[in-house]
Amino acid sequence: MTLLEFTIATARKAGKMIEKAGRKTIKIEEKSANDFVTETDRKVEDLIIKEIKKNFPDHAILGEETGESADLKDAEYIWIIDPIDGTNNFIRNLPFHAVSIAVFQRKISKSSKNFEYIEGEIVVGVVHSPALGKIYSAQKGKGAKLNGKPITVSPRNKVYRSILSTGFHGDYKAFNLPYFEAIIHKSQGIRRFGSAALDLCHVAEGKIEGYWEFGLKPWDIAAGALIVEEAGGRVTDTNGNTLDLFGKDLLATNKRIHKETVEIFGKIQ
Ligand code: IPD
Ligand code: CA
Ligand code: CA
Repeated sequence: MTLLEFTIATARKAGKMIEKAGRKTIKIEEKSANDFVTETDRKVEDLIIKEIKKNFPDHAILGEETGESADLKDAEYIWIIDPIDGTNNFIRNLPFHAVSIAVFQRKISKSSKNFEYIEGEIVVGVVHSPALGKIYSAQKGKGAKLNGKPITVSPRNKVYRSILSTGFHGDYKAFNLPYFEAIIHKSQGIRRFGSAALDLCHVAEGKIEGYWEFGLKPWDIAAGALIVEEAGGRVTDTNGNTLDLFGKDLLATNKRIHKETVEIFGKIQ
């Protein structure tokens, strides 16, 4: 079984657990103001970690609910997990929630114990929405797929003819409003799906032309960013600079509207 096949199989197991839990009453906890976690988020992350540790005992993990594993300093591979991206949707039985799993491969020559400064690249990304019956996957240099079939980004090349999505995370709600306003006037429309991982996959699949957000975390975007790039899209920060998984912002597009979107953002005071 390849790394990609293993990741897909694990995401499938996680998806089954999410589906089953969604049919029962869900125990919810408020982590911080309006930031919720359910017992399912935790159980799903535990399941994924158990599978990884069983099959790849030398690999390290960065999980949303459990943080960094102790072996992160030396591992060549680091798994980045969001057990449920779109927890608010999951709680309300809205279909836009997904499990997101990415595999980061470190450049062995560079050593750092802090993941933020480790050099390397995402080599595998899988986003699985059990409610939508969709498994998006990508392997570095091998293209992106939806349920096993290749996908590519949208051919539209003007923001005026494009739909973009965004999100309003925690501290960045007010900060994002001028961006929202600029795009709403210049584009065909804006969507708010409530799952960063699926926002990215919608760009990869060509359903929308772009997505941006502030305040994201590595587990929200690691898998989806690779899927967009492998589908022919572009992922940077909102200034058009190289994406930093630990940075504050992200812009993903079908590549064709990237420059124009960055220019629109650049005019915001
Ligand atoms: C959130 C979702 C949401 C985005 C937030 C994320 P969570 O993840 O991706 O769409 O706007 O920034 O934190 O908390 O549901 O895993
Ligand atoms: Ca998330
Ligand atoms: Ca989550």
